[in-house]
Amino acid sequence: MSRLLTCLVNERLVCAWYVTCPDTPVVTSFLLVSSPRCCYPPLTNAKMWSPGSFVFQLRHRPIVEIAPIAYRTNVHHVLMLDPEDLGVWVWRTSTVDLDNGKWTGTVITSPLELLAMATEWNGLSNDAVLTIRRELESSLENQIYAFAHRDDMPKLTLESSAIEWEQSIIEGHATHPMHRARHAEPPLPSLLPDTELRHIMLRFVAVPSHLMDTCGDYHALLMPLFEAAKSIVSDPHHIDDSGSAGHVESLLNNVDLASETIVPVHPLQLPAIRAIFPFVRELQFEAPAEAQASLRTLSPLALAESGLDIKLPLGIKTSSALRTVSTWSAFLGPRLTPLLPHVLSSIDETAGGSVHQQQPILLVAGEPASTIVRGHEMAKYLACIVRDNPQALCNRQEAAPAGSERQRTVVAAALTERNADGTSVVCAQWGLDTVDKKKKFLRSYVRLLFAAFLPPVLTHGFAFEAHQQNTLVRVDLDTGRVCGFVVRDYGGIMVHMDTFRQAMGCEVPMLVGNSTTAQSLDEVYDVAYHTLVQCQIHRLVRALDLHYSGGGWAVVREELVRAVPAESMLYVAWMRSRSVKLKSFVAMKLGGMYRDYVYTSVPNLLHYQDEQNPSQAAYV
Ligand SMILES: *[C@@H]1O[C@H](CO)[C@@H](O)[C@H](O)[C@H]1NC(C)=O
Repeated sequence: MSRLLTCLVNERLVCAWYVTCPDTPVVTSFLLVSSPRCCYPPLTNAKMWSPGSFVFQLRHRPIVEIAPIAYRTNVHHVLMLDPEDLGVWVWRTSTVDLDNGKWTGTVITSPLELLAMATEWNGLSNDAVLTIRRELESSLENQIYAFAHRDDMPKLTLESSAIEWEQSIIEGHATHPMHRARHAEPPLPSLLPDTELRHIMLRFVAVPSHLMDTCGDYHALLMPLFEAAKSIVSDPHHIDDSGSAGHVESLLNNVDLASETIVPVHPLQLPAIRAIFPFVRELQFEAPAEAQASLRTLSPLALAESGLDIKLPLGIKTSSALRTVSTWSAFLGPRLTPLLPHVLSSIDETAGGSVHQQQPILLVAGEPASTIVRGHEMAKYLACIVRDNPQALCNRQEAAPAGSERQRTVVAAALTERNADGTSVVCAQWGLDTVDKKKKFLRSYVRLLFAAFLPPVLTHGFAFEAHQQNTLVRVDLDTGRVCGFVVRDYGGIMVHMDTFRQAMGCEVPMLVGNSTTAQSLDEVYDVAYHTLVQCQIHRLVRALDLHYSGGGWAVVREELVRAVPAESMLYVAWMRSRSVKLKSFVAMKLGGMYRDYVYTSVPNLLHYQDEQNPSQAAYV
């Protein structure tokens, strides 16, 4: 409910006010939420106020407009809400007494009630609302299950494996209301909360090669996986009449590599593939794999030695979109990979604060090969992208023998989670028990983050989609220090081609209809701002409890000035405006759009002062 309300408020689909009642025996404050039509004109001066509304308990003050609304000095319009601002209780009100901070009404506990009211207020009753409702229900059901079963999870330390960290995420995306939806689209059967998504058995199909677009050394790179696949038919003679007795059945004996392409398939995706692609031949073989945080990128055990992961389509909607693999990203990966070393050469290896940097600050998980169905409108349902495994990439860089890693890669999203007892994961792992220690950690993290990701933006007009699930933090296991990052996934990069061409002498090859080229440099700065500031730094500042005091944002501002000259276009773009764009998850869903984004305008957190400052509202 807190995530849904956050989106509704920030996307202006409801109106929200911060109400304080200083004259009551105990100063009370709460959040009043009503129809967006109540915003303009604002609340009247009537003492009792009674259109349909909700009251939300607050733990902290959201970002509000400086001036109170007309008629009332104790009521401020809310400009930006975060789930962390909210308490536990919510009421559907009958009457509200704004002077005395009292209301009558009933406690509600389901986000579906809030959604129903919000859609009524906005006059919405279309299919999109039903879709959101279903996905919200799915998210709710799966989140309840995840919380109830979190005790089954191992307690993690920095020594824990990278894949354990990937699979440790319980709370997930901080503001997406459908973040934990596991909504399977037909022809996939619907999923239950206990459906196994972490430890899976890959399946395989053979497809006539002329029907596939394949790029890179695809078969060669996946050969160890094909060789390791085990027959799932108890008597192998059933599927291969020519097999002689005692011969261990091999997947490779069942395909003709001269004319067929082998594609690994997520087991849950098999029904969709059978239904959509009559020309594929199912191979009765399987191989174990571990799923990463994204669910669709998998680490097959058989590829551990070669250090490769595979990204496979999964017709399941979680957060914004179906987790399939687009033609654009299958095309882009192997073509962009060889260009990246040049892009990364713009990074100053001493800028992160360490002059003895053993390794580059930023490593990029390459995508050396891919295959996808050619020219088919459902192509995104059958594809495979081969990608460097981040931990293996790290080990290769430092030439560490297997089993003796000196660095651990931890997916950034796992660090801003909370442990079962409510404590912050990042604080617990690094023993950050004082404000000074927290600020010091934040400073070194943000310094490295800017040193890693801003130079390609400045010199090549190139931004990675470095949000918390695509970024892995590299921790030195001897010293416990954060020493750099790995970034993966090119699906959401943003490139300004003129700038790139000037720096490189060539373009990034992309297919027509791509959404990864920028019309202007501002679009590149926007992607960098969204992924680094709104997604990564915001969550880290809050996980360190440095948001409401403003101390965290002061550190971020200092580090930004340190990283980019104040006169640079990027600095100006990030700092010039008191408000910035924010992706509108709910509005986007209402419009049924997945690739084209809808934005709302919210305060620029880089200007945040502190909770107590009445003029904090994004205006310094
Ligand atoms: C996609 O990429 C190419 C660069 O290869 C660019 O010229 C083109 O305009 C891009 N956008 C679309 C929508 O096709």
